[in-house]
Amino acid sequence: MKSRIIYLSLLLLGSMAIMAFVSPQDQKKGGAWDVPAKYKSMVNPNKAGDADAEKLGKTLYAKHCRSCHGNTGLGDGPKAKNLETFPGDFTDAKFQATKDGDLYFMSFIGRDEMPNFEKNIPDDESRWAIISYIRTLKK
Ligand code: HEC
Repeated sequence: MKSRIIYLSLLLLGSMAIMAFVSPQDQKKGGAWDVPAKYKSMVNPNKAGDADAEKLGKTLYAKHCRSCHGNTGLGDGPKAKNLETFPGDFTDAKFQATKDGDLYFMSFIGRDEMPNFEKNIPDDESRWAIISYIRTLKK
């Protein structure tokens, strides 16, 4: 009887340890994005380092994106742990190498758990400002 209790507690402890280990790292990574040609050719009209655009983008990012993507773009916002898909790491060099038009599509058209922002962020000035700000998050 006693050994059975010990066995069961070990089993419970073991499964708790596995659960702690598995989440939230068990988030699946989103695969490659299929970006339509009409977006691919888009280019950010703001120059790199445009301080006004980056400032506006920072405010909008805090309002619309930070909850999932996190303060510094690591994909660790408070809502991120409830997502099945990892939101991505904006500080990563590979991510930063993504072209403007692809970023635009991912950011405002979205897919699956990445929301569509066409209605909430309707103007291109705001959209490109957010992209300018995302560009500042690189390591
Ligand atoms: C509700 C949570 C949530 C919010 C809010 C959100 N995102 Fe996302 N985002 C995600 C998830 C989840 C993914 C991964 C989706 C996938 O790969 O299928 C993602 C992916 C992305 C990607 C592609 C990342 C990569 O590594 O490929 C970009 C760019 C992006 N989001 C930009 C934004 C911007 C800009 C905003 C604010 C305007 C925003 N997101 C708001 C959840 C969110």
